[in-house]
Amino acid sequence: MDFAPPRGMRDFYPEDMVLRNRIFDAWRAAAVAHGFEHYDACVVESLELLKRKAGEEVENQVYAFQDKSGRDIALRAEMTPTLARMVAQRQGSLQFPLKWFCIAQCFRYERMTKGRKREHYQLNLDVIGEEDVSGEAEVLAAAIDAMRRMGVPDEAYRVRLSSRALLSELLARLGIDERFHAGAFLALDKKGKMPREAIEEIMRGEGLDDEACRKAFDLMDIASLDQAAAIAGADSPAIARIRELFSLLEIYGVRDQVVFDVSVVRGLAYYTGIVFEAFDTKGEFRAIFGGGRYDNLLTTIGGKPTPAVGLGFGDVVVGELLKSLGLADSAARPDLVCIGYLQPEQRAAATRLAARLRAEGRAVDLRLRAQKAKAFFAHAGERGTHAVYLGPDDLARGTARLKDLATREETEIPLA
Ligand code: HAM
Repeated sequence: MDFAPPRGMRDFYPEDMVLRNRIFDAWRAAAVAHGFEHYDACVVESLELLKRKAGEEVENQVYAFQDKSGRDIALRAEMTPTLARMVAQRQGSLQFPLKWFCIAQCFRYERMTKGRKREHYQLNLDVIGEEDVSGEAEVLAAAIDAMRRMGVPDEAYRVRLSSRALLSELLARLGIDERFHAGAFLALDKKGKMPREAIEEIMRGEGLDDEACRKAFDLMDIASLDQAAAIAGADSPAIARIRELFSLLEIYGVRDQVVFDVSVVRGLAYYTGIVFEAFDTKGEFRAIFGGGRYDNLLTTIGGKPTPAVGLGFGDVVVGELLKSLGLADSAARPDLVCIGYLQPEQRAAATRLAARLRAEGRAVDLRLRAQKAKAFFAHAGERGTHAVYLGPDDLARGTARLKDLATREETEIPLA
């Protein structure tokens, strides 16, 4: 019988947790440094909520099942619908704007490719209740801060940023009616992932004619913000927002990491304005993080109209990026004192010493039975930063030697 984890799911052995914890620690520290508050929810959601606003692609990927009472439930594929539900539930009493973060395990029945699993953890950073681009600036700056805390050099990745509001303006300028825009977005998001004919097929299914398909495709070739501005017109609100965001990002000190790229559309249906995705500069991996503005999501689940912007930052792709950059192995080993003893007679003293050091706030790995020195020091060298090994002589003297395993220095400490 094969008891490997189900396909696409991961086990995390202690050695795997080192990298995972480094990623989570950087996420948490960056979120807290930017004033985001921690929230969480159960991984099981009602299927109805997830279907309501994810967009078809994610909907097809949802792990859904019925519970024993016949309720349709599902494992969340992303955190955003849950967040919207939680905010809508307390809309009357919450102080907006909210800045909330969580680290959520998400499940998607995806085709398994490099960087895509069927389960992943995602840092979510969201600003709810602020329509100003300061919201975009804050989530982007926090995500870039997390990258820096992991040690990723600024030039190793770029955040590509565009705007569905801008695309909408451009489509309108080309005479394409607004009711076709949402369909055009989701089709254009497939560019580079599907042959052009297949995408045009989707667009025709959404009601666009051949001429409109061609025009929409041509928009994807716009090379700069200035070129987009030339088509959208000098008074374009979407262009003004992007320019304002860029000047804010300059002040945050993260402007160089963000570039305009009209072809970023994003696959999720709920985005309404600025959208962005981060990729490694070498183009080896899938998106590192992605997000955007979603001003209508709360109303679709029964809340009051509320502007919102946020992003999801997965652990899989950034883990691969850290490995490829040689940054996956953390040099600094956390402080850990290993305490061992030669004979059962020294157990009580070893246990007392362990309790004392733990009470002083040190992490201690107390061996669970008497061990020969060689075996003990082999273990301590594997795991610890410091070691204490007690024998009958130490008890007779009433002192122990605390050995720093890196420098080999010894310090005498009293056993009493
Ligand atoms: P998303 O682009 O679907 O956005 O996912 C965000 C990130 O999660 C991706 O950039 C990637 O790092 C990671 N990710 C997604 N699917 C997988 C997978 N199958 N395996 C490994 N990693 C994956 C969202 O989920 C939005 N809800 C983000 C958001 C928050 N927008 C506003 N607020």
